[in-house]
Amino acid sequence: MAFHGRMLIIMPFSLVLFATITSAVGQAKPNCPDRCGNLTIPYPFGLNEDCYMGSDYFINCAPNGTAFLKNSNIRVTNISVDLGEIQIQQYLTYDCYTRKGQRRHNIPELRVTPPYTISGAKNKFMAVGCDTYAEFEGYRRNQNLPFIAGCMSQCLGLDSIDENSCSGIGCCQTSIPDGLKNRTVDLKSYNNHTYVMDFNPCSYAFIVQEGQFNFSGNASFQQLAKISQLPMVLNWDIGDESCDVVAEKKNSSCMAHTKCVNRTIGNQAPSGYICQCLPGYDGNPYHPDGCLDVDECKDSKPCDIGTCLNKPGDYTCKCPKGYKNTEDLKKCIKKKTNTSIKVAMVLTEAKKGALMLATSTSHLYFGISK
Ligand SMILES: *[C@@H]1O[C@H](CO)[C@@H](O)[C@H](O)[C@H]1NC(C)=O
Ligand SMILES: *[C@@H]1O[C@H](CO)[C@@H](O)[C@H](O)[C@H]1NC(C)=O
Ligand SMILES: *[C@@H]1O[C@H](CO)[C@@H](O)[C@H](O)[C@H]1NC(C)=O
Ligand SMILES: *[C@@H]1O[C@H](CO)[C@@H](O)[C@H](O)[C@H]1NC(C)=O
Ligand SMILES: *[C@@H]1O[C@H](CO)[C@@H](O)[C@H](O)[C@H]1NC(C)=O
Ligand SMILES: *[C@@H]1O[C@H](CO)[C@@H](O)[C@H](O)[C@H]1NC(C)=O
Ligand SMILES: *[C@@H]1O[C@H](CO)[C@@H](O)[C@H](O)[C@H]1NC(C)=O
Ligand SMILES: *[C@@H]1O[C@H](CO)[C@@H](O)[C@H](O)[C@H]1NC(C)=O
Ligand SMILES: *[C@@H]1O[C@H](CO)[C@@H](O)[C@H](O)[C@H]1NC(C)=O
Ligand SMILES: *[C@@H]1O[C@H](CO)[C@@H](O)[C@H](O)[C@H]1NC(C)=O
Repeated sequence: MAFHGRMLIIMPFSLVLFATITSAVGQAKPNCPDRCGNLTIPYPFGLNEDCYMGSDYFINCAPNGTAFLKNSNIRVTNISVDLGEIQIQQYLTYDCYTRKGQRRHNIPELRVTPPYTISGAKNKFMAVGCDTYAEFEGYRRNQNLPFIAGCMSQCLGLDSIDENSCSGIGCCQTSIPDGLKNRTVDLKSYNNHTYVMDFNPCSYAFIVQEGQFNFSGNASFQQLAKISQLPMVLNWDIGDESCDVVAEKKNSSCMAHTKCVNRTIGNQAPSGYICQCLPGYDGNPYHPDGCLDVDECKDSKPCDIGTCLNKPGDYTCKCPKGYKNTEDLKKCIKKKTNTSIKVAMVLTEAKKGALMLATSTSHLYFGISK
């Protein structure tokens, strides 16, 4: 927190005040609600006009505590300010058959508008089934040609399925490009699941957040029959200009102790920017107070033997007697015992003790330290 001693004496209440601000870190604009159900709502997001940065960041909070993105039916379940991401829940595509050959099938669509795009780094396209051909088509922000990809999975019995591995038997997957603004996922079968009906009447496909769906054979067939949505990650950014342009216009939304990071999709020019706290600072980089100093001395004990001293954005270690700082002041190392200093020390001590007769310094040293 880097308080000066004088400040502490003159304004003892400033500590209390600071503690309250720190505990509220994070989050909504002052005097704005910071929760919808379980979800924390950090600025630039907000639940009403006075609380969000622009209508793009409107979170529509239903009375039962479900959060929706703007006026859509897209459910929001996590918001990250430092990465410029949100987690949403999206419908699976299914393609089911009965023994009589009746088909039940959906093609859910997802369309998001700037500043939102589907994250390529955090999601995967996956399909599950034993008579399954899955395809998705998506358009990138600022591009008019579609991106089309897909995968297929076949198997003739549960025995042949490699459980816990999505590698083409019962499950297939592929990565997706960054920056998609819409996508459709469709499913087809080769034989209407006729030959696998006993254990797999349905195919499923979805774009899903990495780590949020693990294939495990029959258990996954059962699980997917029961759920309708899975999580997906969207990227978001501020404005549609790069860091340099907003800096020049003095219109950056990055507050104190932050840095501006260009947001780019593929090799296009920046589509906007996000703000991040500088190293040693924490909190919400869009909050009017900016990011706040992290008290490294409180949270961890970075100085093994020294005394930790917090500084804005940093810390140093004050070393005990016999130790000295490393160059970065972040560690204490034992002082090298320099023989000539030692001899001098020993001689001084020796005088006090009136032990003048010793002939070798090593004997003398031994005698005194005993
Ligand atoms: C909560 O309310 C929203 C909007 O009214 C509705 O769509 C949703 O199904 C409700 N969710 C639950 C769990 O009741
Ligand atoms: C809140 O979280 C709990 C536990 O994770 C979950 O069961 C519940 O559905 C959540 N409520 C809402 C409104 O999202
Ligand atoms: C929300 O996302 C953060 C990382 O951005 C993660 O640490 C946290 O566990 C997530 N919370 C939920 C409920 O998924
Ligand atoms: C996706 O965007 C493209 C290009 O703007 C448009 O032609 C297409 O109809 C959109 N698809 C959906 C499902 O919204
Ligand atoms: C699959 O079912 C559809 C009707 O749902 C039918 O038109 C088609 O001929 C069937 N294909 C095969 C290979 O059975
Ligand atoms: C999937 O597996 C990974 C790695 O083993 C694990 O971290 C993750 O929690 C699992 N996800 C689910 C939804 O079970
Ligand atoms: C698949 O899982 C279900 C539910 O756990 C179980 O009833 C069924 O017997 C399993 N099928 C096979 C072939 O093991
Ligand atoms: C400044 O930034 C805000 C938020 O991104 C934007 O709405 C506004 O148009 C910008 N103003 C100028 C002059 O560029
Ligand atoms: C942001 O992008 C602009 C335009 O491509 C580039 O000139 C600038 O160096 C980038 N700034 C940062 C901080 O990366
Ligand atoms: C030991 O100390 C003397 C006097 O302070 C100094 O001149 C000398 O460079 C030191 N030697 C080492 C190895 O540090």
